[in-house]
Amino acid sequence: MNIIANYPLLKLNTFGVDVKAKYFVSINTVNELIELTKTKVFKDLQLLILGGGSNILFTKDFDGLVILNNIKGKEIIDQTQESIFLKIGAGENWHELVMYTVDNGWGGIENLSLIPGNTGTAPMQNIGAYGVEIKETFVELEALEISSGKIVKFNNSDCEFGYRESVFKNKMKNQYIILNITLELKKNPVLNINYGDVKAILESQNINNPSIKEVSNTIISIRQSKLPDPKIIGNSGSFFKNPIVSLNQLEFIKKKYPNVVNYKINENEFKIAAGWMIERAGWKGKKFNNYGVHEKQALVLVNYGLANGMEIFNLSEEIILDIKDKFGIKLEREVNII
Ligand code: EPU
Repeated sequence: MNIIANYPLLKLNTFGVDVKAKYFVSINTVNELIELTKTKVFKDLQLLILGGGSNILFTKDFDGLVILNNIKGKEIIDQTQESIFLKIGAGENWHELVMYTVDNGWGGIENLSLIPGNTGTAPMQNIGAYGVEIKETFVELEALEISSGKIVKFNNSDCEFGYRESVFKNKMKNQYIILNITLELKKNPVLNINYGDVKAILESQNINNPSIKEVSNTIISIRQSKLPDPKIIGNSGSFFKNPIVSLNQLEFIKKKYPNVVNYKINENEFKIAAGWMIERAGWKGKKFNNYGVHEKQALVLVNYGLANGMEIFNLSEEIILDIKDKFGIKLEREVNII
């Protein structure tokens, strides 16, 4: 274990923001982490646990200890006739995990192909795409409780999953370090191909009964066509959440914007496509110096060069104000601001 002072974080955040951590350490095993908990820097400083760095915007240097969670490992811990129970180290890359499950013919997370980031951070915001969320396959996780140094388990309901939400973003924020997660994958899965774009692409290829691999490939091609590759253009995926409004609010917006894109959640809750509102408000593709709003997906803010995080944050503030002004809705950020 090597604690390094004044460490550059440029390569550790997908937004590509050039900031430094006062101290940095990379943890490869649970034992290393337990050793770390006994050190002075761990006890005295503010902590930031980094996974893939794909859902974070640094607006300044981090005046504390950044811990890169690099705990690896994949293990089948149980199986039945229908299911495989796979335990995965928090530091495993999410997309590589998805590819591993797809190649083995185990279904459940194929719609979550190509999501950046690591496995341990996936439950924190209940990652979701194309009609599937991780909570549907999630069984449990093990985490280190920072205050006591004990390892505790959280099952599915303990995590209090919601739309891009979990207990780890709310009342238990900054209290645990996730060590591993267990997923239940299906040997004969029912594939979810109802999302508009997915259905359309499969139909255009005359694929009626797709395999897990075909669904995964379809998702990958949709994502590649709309979302910027963080290795080329800095970004954190969707910067904002899609807001959820009541039927009354929706009716009110529809008076002015009859075509507002929305999805019914239940009788009184509707999710509005924030990307549609931001595009409609004229922000899509706007470029300011080295940063801007992505030209193919208005929900994604991008760093074209060495923009600083504060500039990107200020842009998000302007967008929030403008959407509030035009649609009466206050957008919430999905990305963690540091
Ligand atoms: N739309 C526009 N203009 C835009 C973007 C979107 O009009 O610039 C409208 C289109 O009508 C489109 C609809 O919004 O049909 C929905 O767009 P899209 O399918 O791209 O999905 P999204 O609602 O913008 C969400 C997730 C994505 C996820 C996709 C697919 C959130 C915050 N984002 O985006 O997740 O990949 O659905 O399921 O829920 C992420 O979290 O980082 C992320 C990329």
